[in-house]
Amino acid sequence: MSGNPSWNPSQYLRFGTERLQPAIDLINRLDHPAPHRVVDLGCGAGNALPILAARFPGAEVMGVDGSAAMLAKAAANGFRTEQADIANWQPEEKVDVIFSNAALQWLPDHVGLFPRLLSCLAPGGILAVQMPAMDDTPARHMQAQVASQGPWAADVAHVTRVQPVAAPAVYYGLLRPLAARLELWVTEYMHQLKGPDPVMEWFKGSSLQPYLDAMREEHRPAFLAAYAEAVRPHYPALADGVTLLPFRRLFLIAETHR
Ligand SMILES: C[S@@+](CC[C@H](N)C(=O)[O-])C[C@H]1O[C@@H](n2cnc3c(N)ncnc32)[C@H](O)[C@@H]1O
Repeated sequence: MSGNPSWNPSQYLRFGTERLQPAIDLINRLDHPAPHRVVDLGCGAGNALPILAARFPGAEVMGVDGSAAMLAKAAANGFRTEQADIANWQPEEKVDVIFSNAALQWLPDHVGLFPRLLSCLAPGGILAVQMPAMDDTPARHMQAQVASQGPWAADVAHVTRVQPVAAPAVYYGLLRPLAARLELWVTEYMHQLKGPDPVMEWFKGSSLQPYLDAMREEHRPAFLAAYAEAVRPHYPALADGVTLLPFRRLFLIAETHR
């Protein structure tokens, strides 16, 4: 598996509403007359699957993910699932819609991956992707910084970090020559988080996970506390206790030729 951390569905879903909104926004922009096969790549716990099924009632909607723990939740809701590494996933038959929310940033080699995914589509098919574009933010910088300082530093030195998502122009260059239509846009969400150290809690369910996996269990509480302290000044709680987390996300929709 290409650097896939051990996913914890309950920690990830702690901010389920905020994490689902970009998927809803992307699904609302999907335009396919009558897809037969719709795949959610990196479907996780399958939260987007019912929304995709409602958007395309005639389609077979299935989820693909590398994590058995995440897929168990998706399968429990009655959806077909497949455990696979997206890096070498191939559909048995061409697919009409490949949807992927907050997953492909975990994979290396976007130069190879994105054109390959396009080649898995039937004529007139759609590749629809959302990826966090958070590399240049205090939340991410502090992850690397805190990871490199402390008794856990040696254990996490070789952790595969979340891929820096490339600039929109890179995806344009990769997909425009191959697609009949390409849309690219960036949205910065202002997540309103509650509770103590919500920024640490948010990333504990996503990009901090590879560090937590790599370090000894007894180091985890001190690592999380150090990260919480490092990000606190950058994301202060407001008067009513809410912490705003600005979260930038890159969206793309590519449609293949008919
Ligand atoms: C941040 S979660 C997003 C889950 C879901 N798409 C959602 O929006 O709730 C990322 C998911 O990508 C999956 N993933 C990451 N790398 C993967 C890979 N190489 N192959 C398959 N799944 C992968 C993880 O297991 C995880 O469930």
